[in-house]
Amino acid sequence: MNQRNVSTAASARTAGSEGARALSRHAFLGLAGLTAAGVLAGCSSTGASAPAPAVVSTADPASPGNVSSFDLAGGTNGRAPTIKLNSGYEMPVAGIGVLQLGAQECYESVTAALDAGVRLVDTAYAYRNEAQVGQAIRDSPVPREEVFVTTKLFPTQFATAGTAIDGALERMGLDYIDLMLLHHPGSFDIDAYHAMERAVASGKVCSIGLSNWYNDEIDQLIEEVSIVPALVQNEIHPLYSEPQVIPHMHDLGIAVEAWYPLGGRGHVDQMLADQTVVGVAQELGRTPAQTILRWHLQRGVVAIPGSGNPDHIVENISLFDFELSETQMEAIDNLNRDEKLGSW
Ligand SMILES: NC(=O)c1ccc[n+]([C@@H]2O[C@H](COP(=O)([O-])OP(=O)(O)OC[C@H]3O[C@@H](n4cnc5c(N)ncnc54)[C@H](OP(=O)(O)O)[C@@H]3O)[C@@H](O)[C@H]2O)c1
Repeated sequence: MNQRNVSTAASARTAGSEGARALSRHAFLGLAGLTAAGVLAGCSSTGASAPAPAVVSTADPASPGNVSSFDLAGGTNGRAPTIKLNSGYEMPVAGIGVLQLGAQECYESVTAALDAGVRLVDTAYAYRNEAQVGQAIRDSPVPREEVFVTTKLFPTQFATAGTAIDGALERMGLDYIDLMLLHHPGSFDIDAYHAMERAVASGKVCSIGLSNWYNDEIDQLIEEVSIVPALVQNEIHPLYSEPQVIPHMHDLGIAVEAWYPLGGRGHVDQMLADQTVVGVAQELGRTPAQTILRWHLQRGVVAIPGSGNPDHIVENISLFDFELSETQMEAIDNLNRDEKLGSW
């Protein structure tokens, strides 16, 4: 890990120690009650024949681990290292997203990703391909418990979130979902979050979080719920790098994940042709996509690039034999224009 990452993490820990202690207690209280109800065991023992997820570590909510600084030296190309979420579960820091992949393409991409060593897959009800993600995971020789799968509830599902969670499990054909997110703020979002908390208690979902949630909304939500979100997934890329949001989430013990990590379909070509990105990539002897993805990881941001191209999928999980220097990190940091490319 480079010096920049270490010092950023250290200062975040110092600055946020008071808040982190309070939250760690908050998470502990939530989890303690749920553990008494059999939560963590439930998630790992749903279904008589379901094996316990290998990605679950001994849940110790009192020391939720450090989600802001990744052990990138512990990864190898084709196998991303993990972070320990505040829920006690471990999650790989690099994966694949399947937005806009049609049924067959989605199945083939997830299959290619699993073959390439990817163990983190991001889908959503709104992508209409949860079934193909589940099918690819079930057909793969990779044991289910080695795969970390995320899906999301869309706002149209919030009012009936309990039923929607069961629907996701049914469509995917899985015994449990590793991480479930609320896709966007919306009517009944707190009710939907409570439904996800109940799904944790019953072992249907291991960890829960949010997408497209920002600092004020998070602070407000935490006041109203029992389980501190494990992760927030937001638009993050070199042109919109969220320098204020990421440290706030990290101070709360919440992992941060980037959607549109390469700028999103329609913008990727421009992003990968950026002169600064190309220059750093040439210095490193890596592709512009690898350079941007590694930049995310060194900032403590999980990346889930979308791809229907098996060569890109391999390239995107080959991020662990090089490192951006502090100067190279700053050069890409300086591309930030606070310019959202997505519509949320
Ligand atoms: N929560 C939310 O609101 C939200 C919103 C958007 C996205 N997401 C999630 O985030 C994931 C990532 O976002 P995204 O897929 O929209 O955008 P992205 O990952 O930034 O970009 C995907 C585009 O990059 C290309 N690409 C991937 N790897 C490449 C490489 N190595 N070299 C060159 N081009 C490459 C892909 O083309 P090829 O197919 O040719 O590789 C595709 O056109 C989504 O799949 C989804 O899971 C969440």
